[in-house]
Amino acid sequence: MTRIAVVISGSGSNLQAIIDGCKSGQVEGQVVGVISNKADAFGLTRAKNADIAAIALPLKEGENRADYDLRLGDELEKLDAELIVLAGFMRILTPEFVSRFAGRLLNIHPSLLPKYTGLNTHQRALDAGDAEHGVSVHFVTEELDGGPVILQAKVPVFEGDDADALAARVHTQEHRIYPMVVNWFCQGRLAMMQGKAELDGKPLPAQGYA
Ligand code: GAR
Repeated sequence: MTRIAVVISGSGSNLQAIIDGCKSGQVEGQVVGVISNKADAFGLTRAKNADIAAIALPLKEGENRADYDLRLGDELEKLDAELIVLAGFMRILTPEFVSRFAGRLLNIHPSLLPKYTGLNTHQRALDAGDAEHGVSVHFVTEELDGGPVILQAKVPVFEGDDADALAARVHTQEHRIYPMVVNWFCQGRLAMMQGKAELDGKPLPAQGYA
């Protein structure tokens, strides 16, 4: 069983989808720990409820990014995690952290990358008048939200949508595709080779929608 660590900052609904996937057998892995930079993140409660190590790792006063990322990396190594799943972790990672776990770091981002990297993606899609929006799962590289896309799912944008309505629609797709991608990794089918995502040794079309 692949040892999975999930890193969060908030509610952890994607974490829950992955925990549930492991429990049901959809994901051939085991969540061995959950780390949050926010001590009050509900995702830590979800971890405890599932008898998974729940680790609060708040920023220390005056701590810089490099030192925080070193501590985070050390906690992940203590967990002996083979796969690190970022699920709503709202911090930018240093290049040193990314290279320490290169090829073993996944992220989910609420937009159809390369559109709308960064924050407020739902509102930005609405403001642009987009007819479609969605979610991307990608390998993490040094470039913010810029690593190779593994899988995307689209949702329609309806008239009268606000950011919350759109976010809820996107979340439903997140919970569907993230466990799927995590399972591919656990099965040894997914890899990042020369900066590109591959499934079963074949390049993943960045525009392949689930
Ligand atoms: C998700 O929508 C995820 O795509 C987003 O945070 C949310 C976390 O929800 N991630 C980012 O914005 C990363 N930049 P959750 O805590 O309920 O899983």
